[in-house]
Amino acid sequence: MSKDQHGRIVLITGGSSGIGLATAGAFLDEGDSVVLVGRDTARLDAAREQLAGRVRSGACMDVFTADVSRTDQIDGVVEHVVARHGHIDVVFANAGTLDAPPVLETDEAAFDRIMNTNVKGVFFLVIRALPHMPPGGAVVVTSSAAADKGRPAGALYAASKASVRSLVRTLALDIAVLERRIRINAVTPGLIETPMTSHKDPAVNTAIKEYVTSTVPMGRWGLADEVARSVVFLSGDSASYVTGTQIVVDGGLTQI
Ligand SMILES: NC(=O)c1ccc[n+]([C@@H]2O[C@H](COP(=O)([O-])OP(=O)(O)OC[C@H]3O[C@@H](n4cnc5c(N)ncnc54)[C@H](OP(=O)(O)O)[C@@H]3O)[C@@H](O)[C@H]2O)c1
Repeated sequence: MSKDQHGRIVLITGGSSGIGLATAGAFLDEGDSVVLVGRDTARLDAAREQLAGRVRSGACMDVFTADVSRTDQIDGVVEHVVARHGHIDVVFANAGTLDAPPVLETDEAAFDRIMNTNVKGVFFLVIRALPHMPPGGAVVVTSSAAADKGRPAGALYAASKASVRSLVRTLALDIAVLERRIRINAVTPGLIETPMTSHKDPAVNTAIKEYVTSTVPMGRWGLADEVARSVVFLSGDSASYVTGTQIVVDGGLTQI
């Protein structure tokens, strides 16, 4: 645990699964307190149970059920954290969805589902949390290697993740102009083994695994813990001169 940064209040959306869950564990290991947000209360409760043993003395963990695609529920999240903890040191705007139909079957509802979760949910969480973040705070947003690499059936998802990468760049400037001393960066995962990338059909899983081993230069899936470590770095004092940029955690995928 680094002495200068333990005891922070960390808000994590999508904290009940995959990358968000692993990152919650990594912050708890630092001695920080975490608030996990997701839509499914049972999944949040299971995450809380799974992480309970990692809560350090003086820290705490709680969960809050909310849909980040709705601004009224984002307000509820921020009000909850501020009422309980008084402020927010770190925001990890990580909740996202990959759930898109084939491109020619995409209707307006599907478009809204992806964009409202992956873009609107990130933008409004960040700007609603900012007034409650003391100087020295940090925001990390989850983008994706998909933002820089075309792939079939991924148009909306890729566009949403390119959008949040761009938001990070410009919001860094807006926040600097406000002289808030809050940094904002993206973490950009490649192919990470989480429930999002696991399919019910074993044949699809085998095909994806073959794609991963043949396409990713490091020849394997990334682990959620490997993304989590970059999020902790970006949010801490070790990254004190890092803002508006991204760390790509993709085993080299976007470099080929
Ligand atoms: N896995 C990868 O290979 C990969 C690669 C690049 C980027 N990413 C990005 O990384 C982030 C986390 O993905 P993951 O792989 O960890 O997926 P995951 O295991 O499916 O977790 C997604 C999390 O987001 C929550 N969530 C989804 N929609 C939400 C909403 N509208 N409101 C609140 N919470 C919501 C889910 O909980 P509920 O369903 O209960 O709401 C869950 O906790 C996403 O932004 C994803 O796009 C993942």
